[in-house]
Amino acid sequence: RKNLIVGQSGGPTAAINASLAGVCCGAKHFGFEKVYGMRFGIEGFLNEKIVDLDETLNSELNIELLKRTPSSYLGSCRYKLPKPEAGNEVYQKAFELLEKHSIDVFVYIGGNDSMDTILKMSEYAKIIGSQIKFIGIPKTIDNDLPVTDHTPGYGSAAKYIATCISEVVRDSNVYDLKSVTFVEIMGRNAGWLTAAAALAKNSFNDGADFILLPEIGLNLKEFINILGNRLNEKNNIVVAVSEGIKDQNGNYISEDEGNVDAFGHKMLSGTAAYLAKKIKSELGVKTRAVEINTLQRAAAHLQSKTDIDEAFNIGFLGVKAGIEGETGVMMYFDRVNDAPYLSI
Ligand code: F6P
Repeated sequence: RKNLIVGQSGGPTAAINASLAGVCCGAKHFGFEKVYGMRFGIEGFLNEKIVDLDETLNSELNIELLKRTPSSYLGSCRYKLPKPEAGNEVYQKAFELLEKHSIDVFVYIGGNDSMDTILKMSEYAKIIGSQIKFIGIPKTIDNDLPVTDHTPGYGSAAKYIATCISEVVRDSNVYDLKSVTFVEIMGRNAGWLTAAAALAKNSFNDGADFILLPEIGLNLKEFINILGNRLNEKNNIVVAVSEGIKDQNGNYISEDEGNVDAFGHKMLSGTAAYLAKKIKSELGVKTRAVEINTLQRAAAHLQSKTDIDEAFNIGFLGVKAGIEGETGVMMYFDRVNDAPYLSI
C-alpha cells in the first residue's frame, strides 16, 4: 500500500496548479503506486468525487502544461470540517474512503481554511490511531498565512495588480477635468495585495496616489478633506483600495451586503463603488469604481516564475515530508535561508 491523494481548496491562484504538478512529480519520484485527486476539495472527496490522476497527468508534457495553467485544475471548495471527535460521521466517512483507496499521504493545497482541514484531519487520525499523514501546501493571493512571509500565488497576483494600477493611471489623466478613480483589490482582511499597487510607480508612471489598507481604520471625513486638498494640486487621482477596508469602529466600508461562506467570511465587494458615490456627492468631481475582482486570481500572462517554481518545489517536498512521517504540518519556503521548512 503506497497511494497518495491530493486536493485543492479556497480561491484559485496562478500558482496552485504548479503545486499540484509538484505533488504529482513528487509522488512519482518517491515511488507511490497511485495518485488520486479530489474533485472540489474535501467537500467533493466526501461525496466520493475522486479521480485517478495517473490517467490524466501521465506525461511530462501534461505536468509542464499544468504548471503554466492558473486557476484550480481539480476544482475547489470552501468547506469547514467539524471539530474532530471520536465517532463523528464526517470523519468516519473520510477515513473509510482513505482506507478504501489505501491512502498513506493526504496533501491539501490552500490557504488558512485549508490548513484548518489538515490540522483537523491529523487530529482525528491521532484519535483513531491512523497512520495516514496529512500535509498542507500553502497558496493564497492574500499572503496572509502565519509563519511564512509570502505565499505562492501572491507574487503573480501582485504583478497583476501593479500592472492594472499602471493602466488605470495612464487612462485616468487624459481629460482636463478633476476625477477620482477607486480601484478595488482583493485580499480580504490582509492588505498585502493592495500594497502591491505601490509597485506601479516608476519613472514613466506615477502609480496610485493613495493606498487604503484594511489594517488601518479609515477616517472617511479626514480622507475626503485630504482628497479635496490634493485635487487642488492635481486633476486626476487614483486610489487603490482593499476590498476589506473598515471604518475606525472596525465596520466594513462596502456597498454590498455580501454572501457569507462556511467559515463565516463575508464576500467583500462594492468598496470602490461605495467610495466613488460618496466622493462624487461630497466633492462634486467625476468618480469611477474599478473592481478587479476575480481577474486578479488566475492571471495567466502574469505568472511569476519565482512563484511557480516555489509552488512546484514545496508540492514536491511536501510529499517527501509525508513519507518521512510528518503530519499536521505545512510545508513552506524560507527565502532568508533559501530552504524549505515545515511548520505546525
Ligand atoms: O482568499 C482569497 C480570496 O481571493 C480573497 O481575497 C477574497 O476575499 C476571497 O477569496 C473571495 O472568495 P470567493 O471567491 O469564495 O468569494
